[in-house]
Amino acid sequence: MANGKILIAIDGYSSTGKSTFAKLVAKGLGYIYGDSGALYRAIAYFAYNNGFIDGKGNFISKSDLQMVLPKVRLCFKTLSDGSSATFLNGENIEKNIRTSAVSAIVSQIAEVPFVREHVNILLKSMGLDKGLVMDGRDIGTAVFPEAELKIFMVANDHVRAQRRFDELKLKGNTTDTLESVLESLKKRDYIDSHREMDPLTRAKDAIELDNSSMTLKDEIEWINAILKPNFGLEVII
Ligand code: DC
Repeated sequence: MANGKILIAIDGYSSTGKSTFAKLVAKGLGYIYGDSGALYRAIAYFAYNNGFIDGKGNFISKSDLQMVLPKVRLCFKTLSDGSSATFLNGENIEKNIRTSAVSAIVSQIAEVPFVREHVNILLKSMGLDKGLVMDGRDIGTAVFPEAELKIFMVANDHVRAQRRFDELKLKGNTTDTLESVLESLKKRDYIDSHREMDPLTRAKDAIELDNSSMTLKDEIEWINAILKPNFGLEVII
């Protein structure tokens, strides 16, 4: 542990509530939250807007994306209300990367080795001082295999689809149905767990958290029961 701080890696399938949980844990520990999926989403958004991929995630020019990617400025910034947002070349793209259109193409972008290598460098630099809770698909296996605590989140398909559907409805999306949301989740799960480089898989030393019928308060009690005896830490909400 550096300065008594640890790294917490949270992985799992799409819409298992990783980011909500990770954000709350980070806040309650006074740690930084790292949203690795946001970087893949940002690159997918950039690649689509610049004509490197089509709306289905098929590549038009992979080599051109590889050439320009090192010049793309990607980062997280804390806004005046305390929330974090993803910035691409100086522009706040937080809202743009959360759409169904980006969700539909992001897994194809995240399969590409040079994209993963690029993102991994950015992610690893966030963990140098520890005190970080990061969520994603390969955080405990590839990005921070040395993380002191690894959690693998699961939830049943219906619960996941309903959560995602409710989230989209709240954002004013009226085109997706519960069935189309479930189908898109399953497609992403399949691509994420079958790609060649760093597929989504549970690290051997990860602890599984099935939150299908848990409230957020239950989840915080669950993690505190691990943090207190093992690390002397407590998430205060
Ligand atoms: O967590 P999310 O839905 O925002 O992630 C978007 C996509 O990015 C997801 O379909 C897979 C990919 N991803 C990944 O491959 N590795 C990560 N560490 C995080 C996300």
